[in-house]
Amino acid sequence: MIKKCIFPVAGYGTRFLPATKAMPKEMLPIVNKPLVQYGVEEALASGLDEIGFVTGRGKRAIIDHFDVSYELEHQIAGTDKEKYLAGIREVIQKAKICSTRQPEMKGLGHAILVAELLVGYEPFGVILADDLCLVEEGDDPVMLQLLQLYRRFGKSVVAVQEVPPEEVHKFGVIEAEQLDERLYTVSRMVEKPEPGEAPSRLAVIGRYVLTPDVFEVLRHTPPGKNGEIQITDALSTLAQRGRVLAWKFRGLRFDCGSIDGYVAATNYVYEHIYKKECERP
Ligand code: UTP
Repeated sequence: MIKKCIFPVAGYGTRFLPATKAMPKEMLPIVNKPLVQYGVEEALASGLDEIGFVTGRGKRAIIDHFDVSYELEHQIAGTDKEKYLAGIREVIQKAKICSTRQPEMKGLGHAILVAELLVGYEPFGVILADDLCLVEEGDDPVMLQLLQLYRRFGKSVVAVQEVPPEEVHKFGVIEAEQLDERLYTVSRMVEKPEPGEAPSRLAVIGRYVLTPDVFEVLRHTPPGKNGEIQITDALSTLAQRGRVLAWKFRGLRFDCGSIDGYVAATNYVYEHIYKKECERP
């Protein structure tokens, strides 16, 4: 049974400067909740309660957020403000949190390799908190959709979405054979392809279930695009061995690592989630 979910949160978040100069981008709020809390709530709702952060310099606020704040608890105890802490209290109660540090920003693949210390030799989930994924009420969270496929096939699974041709250069893109309406066997993956090089319009987003053989492959994966160790390159190696599936997930995804996606997510959550919650008795 998979219990672990890794959150690589060591990136600089340069696209949000100066907001991210002294604050992790994962702590940016979508309305009243930091991005990273949405991710951890998704992991918990998918049955993953062992949460491992791969952090870097200046990321302490993330770990503090998932710790009890005694002063705050003391200050608001018995007041009507307690309701604002109900959500995070529940998360803190359910999640087992640990963290390790990525000493240098050598890429997402490297961050995941650093997490081997937390994971051991087990399959595990990976959530990039800056991709906010929301599903319709009653549907399974995107991470749970991937876990169900892992349970059926025992292979690594990546979440994909179809993007317009002019956007493929921002993503890892798969070459794949379609198995059914939403499921694909991946044969190759290309990180941020140049125009004309993209094998498809199916782009990998920030949700993965990985088998532990990925660590050995990552150890031997040389730096790729932008001189970084890319998870896409390691998964491409596993894909060539027939070990990777892709799932066109059900739900919405907002790229909150970009200003446009962040604003779109804020507007969506305010209209469709926050307002409804406020109306509840
Ligand atoms: P991004 O490509 O969004 O990079 O990383 P970034 O540094 O966070 O943001 P920009 O581009 O400077 O604005 C995708 C994810 O991988 C993590 C990031 O924290 C983010 O969740 N990451 C990336 C690491 O943990 N370590 C790395 O070395 C690189």
